[in-house]
Amino acid sequence: MKNGHAKLDYNDFVKEDRVHGRMYTDSDVYQEELDKIFHRGWVYVGHANEIPNPGDFRATTIGTQSIIMVRDESGQVQLLMNRCTHRANAVCQVERGNTKMFRCAYHGWTFRNNGDLQGVTYHDRYGEWFRKEDFGLRKVPRMGMYRGFVFGSLSPVGITLDEHLGQPVKEQLDLFIDLSPEGELDVTAGIHKYGYRANWKFQIENSMDGYHPNFVHQTFFTNIQHRTGAKLTGLFASSSNNLTRDLGNGHVMLDYRPYNRENSRRVQELLPTRPGGKEYLDAMVARHGEKHAEEILTAGGTHMLIFPNLVLIGVHIRVIRPVTVDQTEVFLYPTLLKGVPAAVNAARLRGHESFYGPAGGGATDDLEMFERNQIGLSARVDPWLVLARGFQQERLDVDGTVVGQVTDELTQRSIWRQWKKVMSQDGDTAARRGKPRQLTAAAGGRG
Ligand code: FES
Repeated sequence: MKNGHAKLDYNDFVKEDRVHGRMYTDSDVYQEELDKIFHRGWVYVGHANEIPNPGDFRATTIGTQSIIMVRDESGQVQLLMNRCTHRANAVCQVERGNTKMFRCAYHGWTFRNNGDLQGVTYHDRYGEWFRKEDFGLRKVPRMGMYRGFVFGSLSPVGITLDEHLGQPVKEQLDLFIDLSPEGELDVTAGIHKYGYRANWKFQIENSMDGYHPNFVHQTFFTNIQHRTGAKLTGLFASSSNNLTRDLGNGHVMLDYRPYNRENSRRVQELLPTRPGGKEYLDAMVARHGEKHAEEILTAGGTHMLIFPNLVLIGVHIRVIRPVTVDQTEVFLYPTLLKGVPAAVNAARLRGHESFYGPAGGGATDDLEMFERNQIGLSARVDPWLVLARGFQQERLDVDGTVVGQVTDELTQRSIWRQWKKVMSQDGDTAARRGKPRQLTAAAGGRG
C-alpha cells in the first residue's frame, strides 16, 4: 500500500490516446504528483529580476512547500526553506520585500539573508554542543538558472537543469528574452493572480491546446475582427499551417512560426507605425542584424510549457501552483523589455490585459471550462478522456522534434507521456533524462 491505495500501475490509466478521469480526481494520485513531480523534479521558482537588489526577497513555493527566493548581501540568488530551524515556524510572512535578516517571531532567532543563523535568544541555555553554523535556514537542495529563470529541485540528486530543459526549450527561451534589445526582461510590472476549483493539469493542458480557442474564445475573436478586421480564427483552424510540437521531457509548444514566416514582412512594416516602434526596430537590428532581428520579432512571443509548472505565452510568464487535488492557483507575470521605448512596454501590458486581465476577453472563459471539466468528471459511467486528435498524423520534423497540426492533441499526449514516466518511477530519479521522443509505430506518419 502507498498513499492509502494499492500502488497504481499508471499504464492502466494513461494510454497513448486517452487518460482515465481518476488521474484528475484521486487525492492519493495528487499526493504522489507532489512527491514525484513537484518535490523531486526541477520546478520553476521565479525570475532573478524580481529581486534585483541585495536583500530583495520573494516568498513562493515548490509544490506545496514554502520557500524564499532571496538575493543575499553578496548579490547571489538563494533559495531557502521558509522554516525556522528551531521549531519550524515560517520565518517570512509577506510575499515580497527587502531585508537584511529574517526574524522568527516564535522565540526570536534571526537569520541573515543568505540563511546563516545570526542570533539565538538566551543562547546560554543550550550549552557548548550548539554550533550556530549547524542551524542556518536549510537551502533548497539544488538551484539552477537559465538567463534569469530560476528553478529549484528539492531532491539532492537527479538530472541537471540543462538536461531537463534541453536545447529546443532553451532556443524558445532565448527568443522570448531576446525580444529585449538588451537581452534582459523586466519582471517587476506586477502579478496577475487567479484561482479555480479544478485540478492543476487542466491549466497546463489548456495552455497548450490549439483546438479550443475558436470555440471558448469565439466572442473575443469576433470583437477583434469587428474592431480591426483581423481574422484570428484562421490561426486555429484545422486548415492552419501552425503546429503542435513536442520539445521533449514533457515540454511542448504551439508553434506559430509557419504563420509568422508568411507574415514577417507585415511585422517589419507594421512595427514602425506603432508608438516607439521604429526606435525599437532599429535597436533590434543594431543588436542582432536584420535577419535575426526579424526572426526574433516574429517568433519571440512564444507559446510553450516547461513541464511541469511554467508557461510562456505572448508577453507573460505563467506559473501554475497546485493547492489541492481540485484547487489551483495561477500567477501571471507580464514581462517588460529592457532597452525599449516606454510606449512599447505600455503596448505589451495593454495587450496582455485585453485577454488576461479581470476585465479581459479571454482567460476567464478558460477557467469556466476547467470547473465544468471537474463537474463532468463526477460522471463515471465512461471514465475516459479522449486525446486522440491527430494521433495517426504525428510526424518527425527536420529538427528531430515530433509535430502535429495546431489543433491536434499531440501536446496533451506528450504531457501525459512525461507524467506517466515520472509517476511510474521509484526512488530519487523521478525527473529523468530524456530527448525529444521518437515516433512509436502506432503513431503512424513520418515527415
Ligand atoms: Fe523559530 Fe523558535 S520556532 S525561534
